[in-house]
Amino acid sequence: MKLWSGRFGKETDTLVNDFNASIQFDQRLYKEDITGSLAHAKMLGDCGVISQEDVAAITAGLKGILKDIEDGKIEFSADNEDIHMNVESLLTARIGDAGKRLHTARSRNDQVALDFRMYVRREIPEIIGQILDLQAALAKQAEKYQTAVMPGYTHLQRAQPISFAQHLLAYAAMLSRDVTRLEDCKKRMNECPLGSGALAGTTYPIDRWETAKALNFDCPMGNSLDGVSDRDYALEFLSDMSVLMMHLSRFAEEVILWCSWEFKFIELDDAYSTGSSIMPQKKNPDVAELVRGKTGRVYGDLMGLLTTMKGLPLAYNKDMQEDKEPVFDAIDTVKMCLPVFTGQISTMTVLTDNMRRAAGHGFINATDCADYLTKKGMPFRDAYTAVGHLVAYCSENGKTLEELTLPEFQNASPLFNGDVYEALNLEACMGQRKSYGGPAVCETSRQIQAVEAFVAAHRM
Ligand code: ARG
Repeated sequence: MKLWSGRFGKETDTLVNDFNASIQFDQRLYKEDITGSLAHAKMLGDCGVISQEDVAAITAGLKGILKDIEDGKIEFSADNEDIHMNVESLLTARIGDAGKRLHTARSRNDQVALDFRMYVRREIPEIIGQILDLQAALAKQAEKYQTAVMPGYTHLQRAQPISFAQHLLAYAAMLSRDVTRLEDCKKRMNECPLGSGALAGTTYPIDRWETAKALNFDCPMGNSLDGVSDRDYALEFLSDMSVLMMHLSRFAEEVILWCSWEFKFIELDDAYSTGSSIMPQKKNPDVAELVRGKTGRVYGDLMGLLTTMKGLPLAYNKDMQEDKEPVFDAIDTVKMCLPVFTGQISTMTVLTDNMRRAAGHGFINATDCADYLTKKGMPFRDAYTAVGHLVAYCSENGKTLEELTLPEFQNASPLFNGDVYEALNLEACMGQRKSYGGPAVCETSRQIQAVEAFVAAHRM
C-alpha cells in the first residue's frame, strides 16, 4: 500500500507505478536521505514536536537501515517510488508508530531538495581533487620541457615560438578556474532547504537554523517556495562540468593532432592507446577521442536540465524528478575522464626534436625579425611590411629567414646587420619573450610554481 494511498480508491496501474518511480536512480541519495532525516528528527525532538523516545527510536532505526543498505542487505522497491519513501517504509516496518512521526513538519519536496543539494555538495571536492591531480601532472611535465621549442599556432598555422611547457601551462591555468568555479558553486549552494515543507513552510515550531547547522549549511534558505523549487545549483554545477569538459576536449583534440603522423609531437604510452582490428600499424588515441566525445553528453546533461526547468511554475512539479540522472551522468562521466586523462598526460613521450623541426619551418620568427628592425629605429608597421617582402622572397627561393645572406637582408633594409642571425635564432626568440605570462623560462618557472602552490592551497 502506498504511503499516500489515503484518498485513492484504486491501486496504481503497474505501468504508472514503474513510470512514476525514481528509486532505480535516486537510491544513490540514500546516505544524504538518512543524514537529513536524522537531523530533522533530532530537531523535532529538541523543539518538542515529537518525544525524545521517538527521536531515539527513529535514530536507532535509521542507523540500522543505513548499515543494512551499505551491507547490501536492502532491496528497494518501485512500489515505494523513491528513496525517501523506501527509507520511511523500512523505518516504519522496523519501529512502528515512531517511524510514522518522522515526516512531521516535512515534505518530500524539501526532503529531495535537501538530499540532492547535499549529494552535489559532496561530489564537488572529489572532482576538484581529480582536477588538481591533472594540474600537478601538467606542472610536472612542464618542468621538463621549458626549453623545448615548439611552434605556437593561431588558425592552426604556425605563428610564434613557444615552449611545450608554456602550452601545457595554458591548460593548467584554465583548470585553476574550473576549480574555483566549483568552489564558488559549492559556496553559493550551501543554504539549507529543509523546513521549506511542501512549499509554504509549516505551522510547527521548528528550528531551521538547528538543522541547517547540523547538516553543515551556512544558513536555511530564506524563502520556502524557493527552497523547494530551485535547481539552479544543479545547473550551475552542470555548467561548471561543461566548461571543464570543454577544456579537456580542446586538450584532447590537441593530443590527437600531436600524435598523428602529420605532427608527431608526442607518442602516447601503449597502456593509453588502442589498436585497430584490421590495420596492424595503428595506434589510436582512443582516450583523448572518448574524452572529446563525452563532452557532448555532459553538454547534453546541462541542456536537458535547463530545458526541463524552463517552463515550470513554482513550486515543485514532478518534472523535477528528471533533475537527477543528468547530474549523476555528468558526475560519472567527469570522474571517469579526469583520471584517465591525467594518466595519458603523465605517461606520454614528448618528441622534442620533431617539435623543434616543425618550429624551424613556417617563419615563426617573422615577428621577431620585424621587432629587430623596430628596435633599430624603423616604425613597426614599416618593419612589418619589409619582413613581409622577405618572407615572400624566402618562399619563392625555398629558404628560411635565417638562411638568407646578409646582402639579401640588406636588400630589404639597410638596418640589417650581422646580429640579425642571433635575433632570429628560435631559442633566443622564445627565450626573450620574458613579458609576464610569456614562454621564456623565467616565466614558465614562475607559472609552474604558481600551479604547484594552487594545487597545494586547494586540496580540501
Ligand atoms: N522522487 C521525487 C523527485 O525526485 C521526490 C519528490 C516527490 N514529491 C512529490 N510531491 N511527488 O523529485
